Amino acid sequence: MHAGGGGGGVRTIVVASQKGGVGKTTLTGHLAVEAERQGVGPVAMIDTDPQANLSGWFGVREAETPVLVRLLPGGLRATLDALAEAGIALCLIDTPPAITDSISATVGEADLVLIPAKPSPHDLRAVGATVDIVEKAKKPMIFVVNQAVSRSKLKVDAVRALSQHGPLAPVDVHNRVDFAASMTDGRTACEVDAKSPAAEEITQLWTYIATRLQRVAQ
Ligand SMILES: Nc1ncnc2c1ncn2[C@@H]1O[C@H](COP(=O)(O)OP(=O)(O)OP(=O)(O)O)[C@@H](O)[C@H]1O
Ligand SMILES: [Mg+2]
Repeated sequence: MHAGGGGGGVRTIVVASQKGGVGKTTLTGHLAVEAERQGVGPVAMIDTDPQANLSGWFGVREAETPVLVRLLPGGLRATLDALAEAGIALCLIDTPPAITDSISATVGEADLVLIPAKPSPHDLRAVGATVDIVEKAKKPMIFVVNQAVSRSKLKVDAVRALSQHGPLAPVDVHNRVDFAASMTDGRTACEVDAKSPAAEEITQLWTYIATRLQRVAQ
């Protein structure tokens, strides 16, 4: 059965932001691994970014799950249908930092769009263009503050600015070297140290996203 905007029953989360370097790829990988760990799987990831950072990470990864799949020649829709047929339960899609028709089309297949934002004035101003795409497609979205720095005034401003557009995840992902370091060897911060504060943040973030997803994609 077709669920929400996703292909044939695959819950589909698109991670999008026009702004570069806000953590789209980092969060796609971390959340895919966490969702699989929490038993939501099988989980697939799709890298739609020509920079191919997610693919690069996956290329040095040893664990067998979650899987990274290539877009089929028929496009994203056909790919999601094929994933559904293969029994994949959840798909996270990483996107390039741009505003293009292709991103609008990708967002069009989402059950939920996750928009990471860094708590900087530039980043916050840039969020509007991504929000426009998501609103045009009438898709539910969630913001998440990434690379947050505790107790900074910027973070308070970020929360205020983002919450005017839509729901903000109640968990901030802080600026932690664990996130960057783990990605260089094909793992996630949670896989490197399951008890780290980074792991705790991702667990909480996924738990929140899972609740939202259940609500929107029935
Ligand atoms: N919470 C974090 N703490 C520390 N470093 C982070 C965090 N999130 C991301 N980074 C680092 O910031 C950089 C940008 O992150 P990432 O590649 O995930 O962003 P992106 O939005 O996918 O970028 P692009 O738009 O270029 O695709 C990377 O070097 C990554 O390791
Ligand atoms: Mg990226």
